[in-house]
Amino acid sequence: LMALGPRYEASSEASFSSVGLPIGVFDSGVGGLTVLAALCRHLPAEDFIYLGDTARTPYGSKPIDMVAGFAFQISGYLHRQPVKALVVACNTATCAALPALQAHFPVPVVGVVAPTVAKALAVPGAGRVGVIATAGSIRSGVYQDLLEQAGRPLWAKACPLLAPLVEEGLWADPIADVVVAHYLADAPADLTALILGCTHYPMLHDVIARRLPGVPLVDSATATAETLATTLDSNGLRKAAGTGTVRHVVTGDTAGYDALAARFGFPQAGATALDVAVLTAHDPRG
Ligand code: DGL
Repeated sequence: LMALGPRYEASSEASFSSVGLPIGVFDSGVGGLTVLAALCRHLPAEDFIYLGDTARTPYGSKPIDMVAGFAFQISGYLHRQPVKALVVACNTATCAALPALQAHFPVPVVGVVAPTVAKALAVPGAGRVGVIATAGSIRSGVYQDLLEQAGRPLWAKACPLLAPLVEEGLWADPIADVVVAHYLADAPADLTALILGCTHYPMLHDVIARRLPGVPLVDSATATAETLATTLDSNGLRKAAGTGTVRHVVTGDTAGYDALAARFGFPQAGATALDVAVLTAHDPRG
């Protein structure tokens, strides 16, 4: 698990001047708002810049190297703002690039995978740990490696239709039941926990819970918020007081984003448009 954990160590001087800076959070689109909501709840004094790469969503169906490139471009953009820490609020981008981002950027970089796996492993029971995620996340093998390292039997399933379904705002529609039933049809009976390994899936929590009664569902939001809080504390970067703000920046249509963000709990998103060319012009890897 440590391989995907936070690795940054700041000098106290650098930390002191950075405390007032915002935290950069990014996702392929709106899904990361489930993580952002938990970050805001957990760290109410902090300021956040949320970048939704809505022009290039979905990430889950794209080659993992391409997604790693997007993650570097966005992290570079956020780092130039500047920010004091980065949260990769996208499971696919975390699987694609987290260790490389941590090695490259001189600020703490927190992903959504390791905190969630740790939480699932803490659920009592010796049965299989299941993970449902995008095709890219499952293909990367990152979840499987972490669970195997922990000696746990697992069940992994790519669910490519689920994130687009949520992007369409259809999580409460009967179509969601049909699609979830399709993907969970071969779920084993001995699941101790199921990881919702995609930022969009918390919106489908009730639909999934109806299909798998009694199986604890573990999502990334709270686990990631707790990890970010610990990481800020251990680096002396936590803002002690004040009321935090959230700025939304998107590469695609702002009105469509604002409407969907409201349904994710951010009623006044007022997103700013960012031309994707600004991102592609600076790949920090050179
Ligand atoms: N945000 C992505 C994730 O958590 C899912 C959406 C996408 O495919 O872009 O994996």
